[in-house]
Amino acid sequence: MNNAQTLLDIATLAAIAGGNVLKKYWGKLKTIEEKAPGDLVTAADRESEIAILEVINRHCPSHGILAEESGGQGDRQSSILWVIDPLDGTTNFTHQYPMSSVSIGVLVEGQPTIGVIYDPFRDELFLGGLGLGAFLEYQGDRVPIRVSQCQELKRSLLITGFAYDRTQTIDNNYAEFCHFTHITHGVRRGGSAALDLAYIACGRLDGYWERGLSPWDMAAGVALVRSAGGIVTAYDGTDYDLYSGRILATNATLHPQMVTELAKVKPLSQSFPFH
Ligand code: IPD
Ligand code: CA
Ligand code: CA
Repeated sequence: MNNAQTLLDIATLAAIAGGNVLKKYWGKLKTIEEKAPGDLVTAADRESEIAILEVINRHCPSHGILAEESGGQGDRQSSILWVIDPLDGTTNFTHQYPMSSVSIGVLVEGQPTIGVIYDPFRDELFLGGLGLGAFLEYQGDRVPIRVSQCQELKRSLLITGFAYDRTQTIDNNYAEFCHFTHITHGVRRGGSAALDLAYIACGRLDGYWERGLSPWDMAAGVALVRSAGGIVTAYDGTDYDLYSGRILATNATLHPQMVTELAKVKPLSQSFPFH
């Protein structure tokens, strides 16, 4: 069960199982709980995760698991680790704003290697793996995807997000958002980090940065963007760290431009030191 294509197939089955749960709960949530201020969780999150874990445990009982709602199973240092967000975009989901996804990544020896991101509302399945390529499956057709060919930031469309600690932290990405809004075609805020990365992988968007993320928001998307020819690093262009919370994902041409612009942004805490 360790072959890359087999892992991708299992991840795909699991993502669809989770997505079916999300469809079932769409518009029918009875309660919405708060894990932390602004960080919501619902029966859809929990039941989607159960459905995903059932598929993975059936096929790969010895693999490690890091899942948002239940934590983990087995050894997180294991050579194969499944990293799962059963509902990425819970806030959108609770408002019936149809921009949410299931995100399933597989780390092999710590490296994001396989990624499947499923948008159950558009029925779009983004899937890929290092050495396997990246694809978008829609209405039974599976087509290869690539990152965009945009060459200049001033012609780019970017995306970002704002973590749940945004009211407690003055360096909450607002400064970066303003900076990029002024020098590009615009900056979107989708509300599902996994879908943001899927849209980078297929070239709908040109660049993505964000802070305050968890490994399950990014694992699948990192594998997908790299499989689609994109670059994923830290803000300063150094090696990406899944556990750092920060990510920069774009194409090879825009990458140095985004690193340069991120370095120019003065943190708000330096502008308002007495906050
Ligand atoms: C959130 C989404 C959002 C990002 C937040 C994440 P959740 O995940 O990915 O786009 O800005 O930081 O926590 O809570 O909906 O799974
Ligand atoms: Ca998430
Ligand atoms: Ca989630």
